[in-house]
Amino acid sequence: MVNDHTLSCKHLIGIKDLTKEDIKLIMHWSGKFKEVINRPIKKVPSLRDITIANLFFENSTRTRLSFELAEKRLSADVINFSAANSSVGKGETLVDTVNNILAMKVDVVVMRHAEPGAAQFLSQRVDARIVNAGDGTHEHPTQALLDAYSMQSKIGDLQGKKVVIVGDINHSRVALSNIYCLKKLGAEVAVCGPTTLIPKQIHHLGVHVIHNLDEALAWADVANMLRVQHERMDKAYFPSIREYRMQYGVNMDRLKALDKIPLIMHPGPINRGVELTSEVADSKHAIILDQVENGVAVRMAVLYLLASQTDHNT
Ligand code: CP
Repeated sequence: MVNDHTLSCKHLIGIKDLTKEDIKLIMHWSGKFKEVINRPIKKVPSLRDITIANLFFENSTRTRLSFELAEKRLSADVINFSAANSSVGKGETLVDTVNNILAMKVDVVVMRHAEPGAAQFLSQRVDARIVNAGDGTHEHPTQALLDAYSMQSKIGDLQGKKVVIVGDINHSRVALSNIYCLKKLGAEVAVCGPTTLIPKQIHHLGVHVIHNLDEALAWADVANMLRVQHERMDKAYFPSIREYRMQYGVNMDRLKALDKIPLIMHPGPINRGVELTSEVADSKHAIILDQVENGVAVRMAVLYLLASQTDHNT
């Protein structure tokens, strides 16, 4: 179903809320916008007169820049807010902060926040489209969409394809959004990592658990390597970085031992020498920078589809 502009939801809070048709529609428009951003003139007037606020209450490099570029490529007016140098430091609440920004006639809010559920909370209290750019350990929907788009671009339809997500599943919003997205697209999903970093109830999401990385890599068409999120760990989940690297780090020797090398992905930022060696990260097997490029097109698609539904445009 790629013949209209209508998502089933008003906001993008999580992949859990999207239908398979929504995801296909976003993929369809991502392809169209990928063509646009590879033209000499990379800009289209699709969101002229739409104002978008990017609110980042937590650090980001890729997502923040990617959203801003996507918005500018669509000719939206853009305002940027980062909590670090704002009145949040004086005790202003999230809703007050956002309502003050909305008073400036903002149509769409893109928000990253450290608290799981922050985007949902906001969507119930303010009158603007909300796009979740990552909420704590909950979801990172545009990352999962760009990951799925990047996989499809390399290996085709994901129906029946095997994807292993490796590493810190416990603290990862990327893992949860990827699992929802890949399952909706018909892929087989496995997770791999230390027992302490894999939620005990993960099988309820319909994924396999493979603890041995070499077995997981031999099984997979795609290996999505996650960052060890030291900042979200309140205790030691594995004996040492050296131990982690030996058991769950991908290096070239590991890949060369396989009959078929899976596509290697990473959402960034990479801990080089931990999840991946530089040799692997910078090799032809890795599509990490393709993911970043595709992120702009995918975010253009999401913003275009959501903003097309605003009263402003209807
Ligand atoms: N992948 C990702 O979310 O990266 P940033 O934290 O730099 O936005």
